[in-house]
Amino acid sequence: MKLLMGVEVVARQQVTPRVVALTLRPTKRPAFPAFRGGAHTILALPDGRRRLYSLTSDPARPEEWQVAVLREDAGQGGSAWLHAAALPGTRLLASHPQQGFGLAEGAVRHVLVAGGIGITPFLSMLPELERSGADFALHFCARSRVEAPFLAELRDRLGPRLHPWIAAEGARLDLAALLATPTPGTHAYACGPARMLEGFAAATAHWPEGTAHLEHFTGLDREVARQGEAFEVEIASSGAVLPVPANRSLLEVLREAGHNVDAACEYGACGSCVVGVEAGQPEHRDVCLSPAARRGVMTACVSRGRGRLRLAL
Ligand code: FES
Repeated sequence: MKLLMGVEVVARQQVTPRVVALTLRPTKRPAFPAFRGGAHTILALPDGRRRLYSLTSDPARPEEWQVAVLREDAGQGGSAWLHAAALPGTRLLASHPQQGFGLAEGAVRHVLVAGGIGITPFLSMLPELERSGADFALHFCARSRVEAPFLAELRDRLGPRLHPWIAAEGARLDLAALLATPTPGTHAYACGPARMLEGFAAATAHWPEGTAHLEHFTGLDREVARQGEAFEVEIASSGAVLPVPANRSLLEVLREAGHNVDAACEYGACGSCVVGVEAGQPEHRDVCLSPAARRGVMTACVSRGRGRLRLAL
């Protein structure tokens, strides 16, 4: 992964039984690089695992970052390790901020929809919204209050601009009704579980292009990423043709052939493995690139192709 920085955990806060917030400071520089609300970083754990986390701190405070980690008991152990071992003084590596999600320039109103831990990217967007005096509303959905991290702080801070939807209390957000009528200049944003994102995508399908924004936390499963039709890639610089079998990823094939392709998440969510495509038809499977950003590139970790593609390598 390019551009890694040393970071140290300087504080931690148990936000809910399953969510811990970690405050990080850079170890070798006075401040972190700038980011805009909604950006994420990739933490590299000591055993080499990499995990993507939204930055939850105020972009105007570059001396410290904060991330909030949900302990995923059915996960691969990265979040459990952070919960157990990321104590003050622990050193890790973090990527430079990556900006896949953020507030639209020029919007006149913002409708934010968060589900559970999906509140995190919005936490760094809120200071920007508040400073600019923007018109916004935050809808926060969770199964119970204990699964709604930062809810009490948000209620105090946002007042009537916060709309909590707590399923255990019988309050469920009707996305189709909320998003039925797009008004000019309104942008809508969602981050949360896959089912919520599907509902959001369906409810905004008739919105003008570029006004509905989604943030995915997880992409394709690695096993799924390897599966599909076989295809071939031609390396533009050498003319070599590499077959990508049906059960292997393009990333694996390129690395085996000696190409040093960067890759952080390896599940289609970060965009660090993007390679240029000069010819051919990619089959995009990532969840991080917009249709416009996909022009002329593809993610090597999860995306595939049909027939033969020529790669700018
Ligand atoms: S490595 Fe993250 S999208 Fe490919």
